[in-house]
Amino acid sequence: MYARTSVTTAAALLGVSALILPGTATAATADPAARCGSPLVIAHRGASAYAPENTLPAVDAADALGIDWVENDVQRTKDGRLVVIHDDSLPRTTDVERVFPDRAPWKVKDFTAAEIARLDAGSWFGERWAGTRVPTLEQYLRAVEANQQKLLLEIKSPELYPGIENDILRVLRQEGWLDRAHVRNKLVIQSFSADSVRAVHQGRPDITTGFLGTPPVAQLPSYAAFTDQINPTHTSLTEEYVAAVHRLKGAHGKPLTVSTWTVNDAAGAVRVRDLGVDGIITNNPDVVRDAIG
Ligand code: G3P
Ligand code: CA
Repeated sequence: MYARTSVTTAAALLGVSALILPGTATAATADPAARCGSPLVIAHRGASAYAPENTLPAVDAADALGIDWVENDVQRTKDGRLVVIHDDSLPRTTDVERVFPDRAPWKVKDFTAAEIARLDAGSWFGERWAGTRVPTLEQYLRAVEANQQKLLLEIKSPELYPGIENDILRVLRQEGWLDRAHVRNKLVIQSFSADSVRAVHQGRPDITTGFLGTPPVAQLPSYAAFTDQINPTHTSLTEEYVAAVHRLKGAHGKPLTVSTWTVNDAAGAVRVRDLGVDGIITNNPDVVRDAIG
């Protein structure tokens, strides 16, 4: 099964106390997706086939299935708080149109944290989930920690939230997620924005990072300078591409890894496993786990 590298590093030790380390040399850390067996199974937006996505019940649903890793999406409110939600607007996963009918287009960035805390983020998924809230990042981290789970944190739409990388690092540090144990084994930060991933790497060189997307093979070396993972959609993934990623060493001197998304059925899971991926991000982590053995 999964082996996590045990490498004590200067950067990891620095991570106990430092938040931003401009100019700090990149040091080796452990990529939790550096596999030596079956791919890591990561619950996408929590176990989002079974509970409303990006909520605390979705974290607990993953835990109930025995899944260690959860993925989430982090954005910022009007008053600078970090919240866990996928869309940059609120209507799909909350009752915001009923609670605030005059606030179209209901963008996350236009609402305060107190306003978002009033919203029902569960009823859209099923009446059983009525009253579920959009979690703050602090609440989310505490739930993951309480379950002894691990977090693949996605910085969602960072172009809408200048400086959100430092805001996220600050909350992670305040919640105890930037100590050596978390940084080495329990945390990966990813984004579709190369600039955002690079900013995280520059701010905290010890953190494992991932780039979401499928850069051309010729461009992979430039990504390897600031990331440890290349995480593409499964739809265009090939064995050759996975091998090309694996041939390169990432920001911490270890082979780049590949976690692919979003694979929700057994046949798809077997297919990407056989392509050689290191991680599978899925709404149905039990289905994927059972399929890949
Ligand atoms: O973790 C990968 C996946 O979450 C990226 O796509 O749109 O679900 O955030 P999206
Ligand atoms: Ca995501």
